[in-house]
Amino acid sequence: MKYSAVLLGSMALSASAFPAVMQMSDAILKARNLEQAAELHKRAEEEKRQLPDPTAAQALSQARGNCGVIPCTVFDATEQYVSNTGEHAYASPAADEIRGPCPGLNAAANHGYLSRSGILTIENTIEGLGAAYGMSVDLAGFLAAYGIIFDGDPVAGTWSIGGPLPTNQITKGLLGQGQGISWSHNLYEGDSSIARPDAYLNNGDAHSLDVDRFRDAYAATDSRYPGRYTLDSFAQNFAKKSDESVATNPYFFAAPFSTTLVSPAAYNFVINFMSNHTAEEPNGYFDGEQFKTFFAIEGDSPADFKWLPGQEKIPDNWYRRTSTNQYNAANVFTDLIPSFLAYPSSFKLGGNTNGVNTYAGISLADFTGGAYNLTTLLDPKGTQGACFLAQVAQAGIPDFANLPLQQITPVTDLINNFLTPIAGDLSCPEVGAFDQTLFNKYPGHTYRPTGPDTNY
Ligand code: HEM
Repeated sequence: MKYSAVLLGSMALSASAFPAVMQMSDAILKARNLEQAAELHKRAEEEKRQLPDPTAAQALSQARGNCGVIPCTVFDATEQYVSNTGEHAYASPAADEIRGPCPGLNAAANHGYLSRSGILTIENTIEGLGAAYGMSVDLAGFLAAYGIIFDGDPVAGTWSIGGPLPTNQITKGLLGQGQGISWSHNLYEGDSSIARPDAYLNNGDAHSLDVDRFRDAYAATDSRYPGRYTLDSFAQNFAKKSDESVATNPYFFAAPFSTTLVSPAAYNFVINFMSNHTAEEPNGYFDGEQFKTFFAIEGDSPADFKWLPGQEKIPDNWYRRTSTNQYNAANVFTDLIPSFLAYPSSFKLGGNTNGVNTYAGISLADFTGGAYNLTTLLDPKGTQGACFLAQVAQAGIPDFANLPLQQITPVTDLINNFLTPIAGDLSCPEVGAFDQTLFNKYPGHTYRPTGPDTNY
């Protein structure tokens, strides 16, 4: 024992005395990490090979209407009309009003369905998103609670749809001053978005719209319905964009909540929440004009497209999905399943390990200590989706046991009232611990840009 301590001491001495030795040990460590990543990746690929044949899944993906796996069969003009006049007239955000990466939230705030300030409470989020889009209470509560815990102010119960919360809010979040969803990379905001660049490729700014990315999505119409977009055509666009992230972003990292789930869910949100509904088409349709209006794009043809920051709008004569089929937390997963099964490369958990095109995945079994695997999670008849969403959302919460009680109670309440309940009465697989150490080998894992305190 004594002998080995001496030996270790002399090794440390020689390493600091000879930088070449240090470099060599760094190189050995890196090589060992890459070897381990390759081994884990093999298991992730094997897990993917167990999935059913994608051809059959593509037919299922294409069969979905714009209300998702559960169709909207009724239309009631009075109930579904979303006013954009009077108290809901459009107004551009004032200098002290915050907007961010989410066109759905920006548009709702610009029309007063959400607080025009861009700083929201849970109650305002639930009420506003139910009225404007037909989002269910459980989903709006879950998404807002997550924003409060990770990027907001748990004591004040507020979160920001854009940049940092105003400094007049004195309490700090679990991770310091709440940075808002604009600066929540790997926590909420993730890579491979529809029209926002990967954070690393744009100096950390993943909330400003990139017109080229928008053009690419704008071209992703469904060949069966010219000029229109569907869950299937957007699932294909997400698959393409996630492969592009691997090929262009050395820091590409699919963290389990943000990039693995939130990014592809956002593609589905466009179709499920932004489609217009009519008596003839109660399931809804989504076309280029709506796309441009919701995403604040002006210009008649793609070559002329220009982004107008913060000017997202709800279109005229627009009818949201029916309240008899609000979109809830379980639906988020039931719509991700057909997309992942049809285009399996779009399911990514892991990232680039050593520059572009060095993607290595992690199997769900390795990540969850065997509690989950991809086949059961993506089983269309299964019920594990809501469990996984609820559990993985909590997996990233830092240890808060040593915070003052004043902060612990609100966080615990948010978890108990809004995160855990989305699994309902399901008996969920028990995960001993999500193995976050597996992420250490991804350079993008620790990339956490913060930004200027502007209102966009
Ligand atoms: C409380 C509710 C919501 C929260 C917390 C939220 C949060 C977010 C976040 C963090 C992003 C960035 C994700 C990324 O990096 O791709 C995002 C993007 C997006 N969200 Fe939301 N969102 C909410 C509601 C909605 C609604 C109701 C809609 C649709 C009406 C929507 C549509 C979108 C779209 C389309 C994007 C992608 C934007 C782009 O890539 O250009 N979201 N949202």
